[in-house]
This record gives sequence, C-alpha cells and structure tokens, in this order.
Amino acid sequence: MSNPSNNKHDNTTGTSETSGGKASGGGTLKSPLFWIAFALTLGAVISWLPLSIIAKRRFSTSNKPRIRIFQDMAAQPKYRPQATSPIFADGRAMRVPVTGTVSFGDVQEDDHYYRGYKLAESPQQQGKFEATYFKGFPQQVTIDESFIRRGQERFGIYCAPCHGVDGYGQGTIHLRALELQQTTWVPPTSMHTDTVRQREAGHLYNTITHGIRNMPAYGKQIPVKDRWAIVAYLRALQLSQNAPVSNVPVDKRPTLR
Ligand code: HEC
Repeated sequence: MSNPSNNKHDNTTGTSETSGGKASGGGTLKSPLFWIAFALTLGAVISWLPLSIIAKRRFSTSNKPRIRIFQDMAAQPKYRPQATSPIFADGRAMRVPVTGTVSFGDVQEDDHYYRGYKLAESPQQQGKFEATYFKGFPQQVTIDESFIRRGQERFGIYCAPCHGVDGYGQGTIHLRALELQQTTWVPPTSMHTDTVRQREAGHLYNTITHGIRNMPAYGKQIPVKDRWAIVAYLRALQLSQNAPVSNVPVDKRPTLR
C-alpha cells in the first residue's frame, strides 16, 4: 500500500504532465525492476551469512564446549592418550601396568601351542638360548576334516596370493611382480621342496606368526588356532604332491599310472 502523501503527490504531478496517470504512477512508485534488483542484492548479501558464520566458527576459539545435540557420552571428563594429570606424581595420565601382573586372558604359557618352539639354554654356550621347534601339533587342536578345510580356506586367503593355490609359489602377486620386472622381488618358496617338507610343524607355525627372511609376518592377522589349521592344510597339500606308494592299498597299486 502506498501512503496518502505519495498519492497526493502523484495526482499533482500526474495532472501537470502529459503522459497520463499510468506513466506518472510508475515514475514515483519504484519500478518492478528496482524491486527485483533490490531482492537479488539482498539475497546475495544474505547468502554470505552462513558462510561467514562458518568461517568465524572455524577460525575463532572458545572456552565453551561445543554445542552437541546428541551427547553420546562424548562430553565427559576424561584423559586422552599421552595427556598429563596433576593427580599422579610423575604427571602422566597413562599409567604403567603394575610390575609382575598379566592382564586377564593374556597368559600364553604353552610354548607348543602359542609359539611352536621352546627356548633352552645351549649346552655348548652358557647364556645363549636356542629354539627347538615342535615336530607335531599341540594337544589343543584336533586334526579332522573340518579343521583342515578351515586351514584350506585360510590358506586361500592369506597364503595363496603369493604361494599359489597349489603351493608351488606361482601366486598372482608373484606373477604380477614378474610382469613388472621387479628386480628386488624374492620369489615365494614352493611348499613342495624337501626343505619345507621336512620343516617341523612348529617351524611352519612360527613362519606364519613372524614371517621368515623376506616373507612378512601374519601373526597379527591370523589367530593362533587358524595358524595351526593352515599348517595342517599345508601338510595335506604337501602330501597331495608327494604321496608314497605305501599310502595306496596293495590291491589298488596295479591301477596306478
Ligand atoms: C606377500 C607374499 C607372501 C605371502 C602372503 C605369504 N608368503 Fe610365505 N613366503 C614368501 C616369500 C617371499 C618367501 C621366501 C622368503 C625368503 O626366502 O626370503 C616365503 C617363504 C615361505 C616358507 C618357507 C620358509 C622356510 O622354511 O624356508 C613357508 C613355509 C611359507 N612362506 C609359508 C607361508 C604361509 C603358510 C603363508 C600364509 C599364512 C604365507 N607363506 C604367506 C611370501 C609370502
């Protein structure tokens, strides 16, 4: 709505000019173009508002905690790693485990099951410890078909990429390294050499746990029991390529080719 004074003004100017009421009204009332420009400018200015608020928030600091709509226990008194604390004499918030204690479930006393070898002082050299690998499997594992199948599956995931599904060392990673002509590439050992066939079960287990020479360790990724399952499968795999005739029943032997 236009105010009355404007209207009066309108009328006086309208009569004095020849162009008529319509045109004179447009002259004093702002034209639609003006309002469009005005709205656009206003919109442009307002559109910067969120950006400037965000910018301010990003670069200014505050002692007040952030606004959290969902608390999720995030805002509670706590110490972050490596933080300091006035409570303790040494000023460290992180405490050292009490000497001589082992956290629950972390005792790994069984050498055979957890390590695959035992350490004993060398009879020749005092103070020098030597590892003796266990030949067989620990009592914690029962070797049956499902255990070996588990090992087969794990072998397929963790070992076959390098050693190949058949264990001859022609895994896809190896083939790719050849393709790239990697000069520093050490080929994965075949599982069907006399050396590996004669390795104690504990030695194979330890190879998985800690790696060997150029092979990386898989102890962090493969749980203890699965490592033994892989060893069990390795034995089956080796047998598949190296079965003695004595394994074949006598009456079946003539059918062998
Ligand atoms: C990233 C590739 C890679 C993967 C994955 C890998 N290996 Fe190996 N492995 C190697 C290489 C390379 C060697 C030879 C290392 C050397 O001679 O320096 C080797 C050597 C070995 C040997 C021979 C060790 C000896 O006694 O001389 C065994 C056994 C073995 N690997 C078992 C495994 C098993 C079991 C797995 C799965 C848990 C596995 N490897 C996964 C690369 C791999």
